[in-house]
Amino acid sequence: MNGSQMRVYFDYNATTPLAPEVIEAVVRATRDQFGNASSVHHFGQQAKALLDDARSAVATLVNGDPSEVVFTSGGTESDNMAIRGAAEALEPTGRRHLVASAIEHEAVLNTLKALARRGWRTTLIPVDQTGVASPARLRELITDDTAVVSVMHANNEIGTIQPIAELATIAHDHGALMHTDAVQSVGKIPVDVRALGVDLLSLSAHKFNGPKGAGALWVKRGTRMQPILTGGKHERSRRAGTENVPALAGLGVAARLAAGKMTAETARVGALRDRLEAGILKAVPATMVNGMRQLRVPNTTNISFERVEAESLLIALDLEGIAVSTGSACSSGTLEPSHVLRAMGFPAHRTQNSLRFSLGLFSTDEEVERVIEVLPRLVEKLRGLTKKAVARG
Ligand SMILES: Cc1ncc(COP(=O)(O)O)c(C=O)c1O
Repeated sequence: MNGSQMRVYFDYNATTPLAPEVIEAVVRATRDQFGNASSVHHFGQQAKALLDDARSAVATLVNGDPSEVVFTSGGTESDNMAIRGAAEALEPTGRRHLVASAIEHEAVLNTLKALARRGWRTTLIPVDQTGVASPARLRELITDDTAVVSVMHANNEIGTIQPIAELATIAHDHGALMHTDAVQSVGKIPVDVRALGVDLLSLSAHKFNGPKGAGALWVKRGTRMQPILTGGKHERSRRAGTENVPALAGLGVAARLAAGKMTAETARVGALRDRLEAGILKAVPATMVNGMRQLRVPNTTNISFERVEAESLLIALDLEGIAVSTGSACSSGTLEPSHVLRAMGFPAHRTQNSLRFSLGLFSTDEEVERVIEVLPRLVEKLRGLTKKAVARG
């Protein structure tokens, strides 16, 4: 890329830039409120006031009560705390089975794998080509010794929204707890823990313009949980460790901003995503959208480019100053096919020719236009190279 070219960041599902108000809050807390929130003196109480404020903001964003919000270091820890903490609390009742969807983030999938090594039975709910985990399949797979059902609210790679309320009803009919990883939906679409009917919900600040390393697990009042981090009595003895006050203050500000802008931003970003998607499908032949297009978060599209290696296209785009992803952040940089697209039943070539474009707060019309302008040429070039390689045999 040359110096005068604009940079385009369409990888908001990996992480988001901080909102200026969040940066200010983090800096202010770092500089002025350095106290330990557990200390009884003035400095401690100042820090505690920041945490209380952030807790209310997070609770409001998901329609929970502040006393139900447990601060964590982010989505991965929240997912671990939900599944391990609930599993351990329910183990004495004889429940030894865990269920999750096949398209969960690694934070859930690998937690199930770790518990399977300790004797837990685990079952993954398959998804169809729309990328949805169906309640009917959960009904077939759940048993009376299922402890936790964990299904993500919105998928990070394709954006599809799962029928959490229906799944939660089935989980509860069998006496199991319902957890949802809402890391990719909180801040993007309205999330209401009561309407979803869940017991546990994970969220992460850096997915909605907050700082990295800050998140929360919403735990419905009365839910039995064992702490996974043992130590002091922080977070009502649910998560030991001195709270990261500046980052959590940033989470609170990000939560308030997201709630305030939700309606307008959902419409604005949704329109940009739709324009981008339609523009790409029109300008580049042999392209398809992966997953259901109706029930998706408004910022995400995942597009398959026939006869193109997604990694090569990602690099070519990066050279033009355009940042996108081949799927989850953990797999970019490797040629691992997407486990999500694989679970949706797509053939190997489609799992390796798909790119995720995810937009957000600072995305603009000009950026959309730039991507639509640049992509056809890059795809044509890569397809030409493939053809030549095939001809050379
Ligand atoms: C669906 C989902 N769950 C969990 C995580 C992990 O969150 P964190 O990066 O805050 O640990 C991510 C991040 O990519 C995600 O997309």
